[in-house]
Amino acid sequence: MNLVYEWRDAPQADFAVIGDPVSHSLSPRMHSAAYECLGLPYHYVAIRVDKGEVSRALEHLKAMGYKGVNATVPHKEEALEWCEIQEPLALRARAANTLNLQSRTCINTDAPGFLATLKGVDLPSNSALILGAGGSARSILIALAGEGYELKLFNRTRSKAIDLAQELELPSGTVLDQADPSGAGLIVNTTSASLQKEHVPLVWDRASTRTLAYDLMYAKEPTPFLAKAASMGMQTLDGRAMLMEQGALAFEWWTGIPAPRRAMAEALQ
Ligand code: ATR
Repeated sequence: MNLVYEWRDAPQADFAVIGDPVSHSLSPRMHSAAYECLGLPYHYVAIRVDKGEVSRALEHLKAMGYKGVNATVPHKEEALEWCEIQEPLALRARAANTLNLQSRTCINTDAPGFLATLKGVDLPSNSALILGAGGSARSILIALAGEGYELKLFNRTRSKAIDLAQELELPSGTVLDQADPSGAGLIVNTTSASLQKEHVPLVWDRASTRTLAYDLMYAKEPTPFLAKAASMGMQTLDGRAMLMEQGALAFEWWTGIPAPRRAMAEALQ
């Protein structure tokens, strides 16, 4: 658990993650490990911000001299709106997770961070089944569509999946009536079911053992989704992989220095 500051009581520091809640965030530990590894004199803290107060909080941190901020749930959209220069990917994803406060610029490192974690993984096909239709699903769909994956989308509230598929101009037939993983080389669970320790309604007996089951969430124990996938002999990956990569890309964008990925990954174990 982090020491969490309310934004009005933010201490003098260089970088921060803002969110609500933010006490569980591993970003302070990960970025601090990077600074320590490279001998950089920076401080990274966790700051709680209420929804609707993101602009005021960012102005305050900017005035205090903060260099950069990571925005996490539920502030990625408000953070995007505060910026004057918005990367096209962040605009399309409607989410900025990395901000340069002094230049009021933002990028989205979630989507490229996610793709980076797939490098070197042997997937049996380039078909991907995405579970969920919230903001995380939007970033993942944009990332995978850009790489030419054939996409399938399932959400328990079907209308939200249909709206998202239309917004992203995905081909008709993308939205499934049931979470059928037939032919999928990759299944990404973007839902918050794992946070509630719940199972997602996947038709497990149609999944191939060579398929990669990827949960964007992580916990001390494997999530119910990953525990089930592992029991079926499938490859698994949890959200720490993506957390590390999005953090490494943010670090590099802020500092211009190659990120010490091993030290950052070790800080997450
Ligand atoms: P995020 O921005 O992290 O994607 P979100 O926008 O709140 O978060 O979206 C959460 C997603 O998880 C939604 O697709 C939600 O499904 P609904 O649209 O039906 O609400 C999904 N979700 C949450 N809890 C779930 C559960 N127990 N089982 C299946 N899907 C769940």
